[in-house]
Amino acid sequence: MEVEDMKLSITPVQGRFVAEVGSVDLSQPMDDAHFARIHDAFLEHSILVFRGQRLSNEQHIAFSRRFGELEIHTARHWLLPEHPEILVLSNRGEEGTRPIVNGGAYWHSDITYKAKPPLGSLLYALEVPPEGGDTLYADMYAAYASLDDETKARIDDLQAIHRYGDRYQLMAREDKDRPALTPEQLAEVPDVVHPVVRTHPETGRKVLFVNEGFTVGIVGMPEAEGKALLERLFEHSVQPGHVYRHRWQAGDLVMWDNRCTMHRATEYDLRYARAMHRTTVQGDRPA
Ligand code: OGA
Ligand code: MN
Repeated sequence: MEVEDMKLSITPVQGRFVAEVGSVDLSQPMDDAHFARIHDAFLEHSILVFRGQRLSNEQHIAFSRRFGELEIHTARHWLLPEHPEILVLSNRGEEGTRPIVNGGAYWHSDITYKAKPPLGSLLYALEVPPEGGDTLYADMYAAYASLDDETKARIDDLQAIHRYGDRYQLMAREDKDRPALTPEQLAEVPDVVHPVVRTHPETGRKVLFVNEGFTVGIVGMPEAEGKALLERLFEHSVQPGHVYRHRWQAGDLVMWDNRCTMHRATEYDLRYARAMHRTTVQGDRPA
């Protein structure tokens, strides 16, 4: 089928950073030509918004699998027992999973504390509060491109340390619903090192690849100096001109390219239910 014959529409929402994909039902099997169009849009835009979806767990997994193998998260208590590819972010808990109320309430990219961080995540909204609970996204291509030349030269060949255990265990101490990671789980997530500036493996564009959530230091730099540099980079990354705010409706599916974006959750009134399902597509080693 010619691309021009497709009903599927791609509408940029905020410059190049985000696009809304219309006239597509993700619950249905998709032919390769339609998938190729979505895949191209994903590389062009970094964040794709699909509104008005109605997906079973199987359908959510099936669409996600078109992009690659799926990640099984270390924190098993958030995974659906029948579908461990699905991580449940629900403030009420659901189907035997632990509730999360403070999940991702800090700037991060998902799972950069692994040697091969994810390619992307697909977050599907089942139930959302009438206001608040938005998700913010930061464009890390723009973050890199807008650095001054001196900073670029300073960071271009640096490596950073990424870590999960500290942040997780700290949050577990403050949250009765969050079980501490076991020694076995901690052993799954040893510190890893990634380049501070990575080249996106599919677009070839340079990306600032450090995040407040999991990047804890710079290799070979005294701790205070590394932290000060990281702080500067974090602050630079999330300036308003680089950020998109997604206001959720039930039935939205948002897919982000985890290699070139960060995101964070925002507050809402906890008297309301908020329930999301996330699948996470495996990625490759940053270079
Ligand atoms: C995530 C995440 C933020 C939110 O799903 O990875 O960080 O707003 N979510 O739920
Ligand atoms: Mn996240």
